[in-house]
Amino acid sequence: MKKVCRILGFSGSLRKDSYNKSLLRAALELLPKDAELEVFDLEGIPLYNQDLENQPPERVKEFKSSIRAADAILIATPEYNYSIPGVLKNAIDCASRPYGDNAFLHKPVAIMGASVGMMGTSRAQYHLRQCFVFLSCFAMNQPEVMVPFVQEKIDKEGRVTDQKTRALIKQLLENLVAWTRKLAPST
Ligand SMILES: Cc1cc2nc3c(=O)[nH]c(=O)nc-3n(C[C@H](O)[C@H](O)[C@H](O)COP(=O)(O)O)c2cc1C
Repeated sequence: MKKVCRILGFSGSLRKDSYNKSLLRAALELLPKDAELEVFDLEGIPLYNQDLENQPPERVKEFKSSIRAADAILIATPEYNYSIPGVLKNAIDCASRPYGDNAFLHKPVAIMGASVGMMGTSRAQYHLRQCFVFLSCFAMNQPEVMVPFVQEKIDKEGRVTDQKTRALIKQLLENLVAWTRKLAPST
């Protein structure tokens, strides 16, 4: 029997009613049977300061161990000013240091993102993919889950109601599990 594929998800938005947090909640509902998803809240990760990188704050230690314990990573990001939010970049920077102790090294990673605009976070997602090059993690290419005009696809309770979006998230999760097993057949 296959082992359960453990996915760690996090949102680049700290907002309580974040649409990107809604995407992660939808992912929890749409997981393949042989996968589980833990959602990590980036709240509480302080601003990175290289002077302190050898004494990381507790929240950064928790974040890094959660990444290391996971078989795969799922990031839901908004787009801020045509890029990724500082909150997400800062969390990635924290987890990638000190040099030689990058928690993302060789992790399979999938991205999804929702915005109220027409581009559906595409510009932010391509910036995020650029970070993955130096992080040396294995970014999955397809499907691209870029959700434009998200305010029309989520109800008042924060549930993703748009069936095409739900189908894309389901496909993303299935592909991520397959991608993870391809990279590490023992998973
Ligand atoms: C600082 C800031 C910059 C933004 N820049 C963009 C942008 O470049 N492109 C875009 O489509 N939406 C932009 N937005 C609107 C976001 O799509 C919208 O706030 C969205 O709800 C953020 O995701 P969240 O609901 O997960 O917090 C911006 C919002 C903020 C707060």
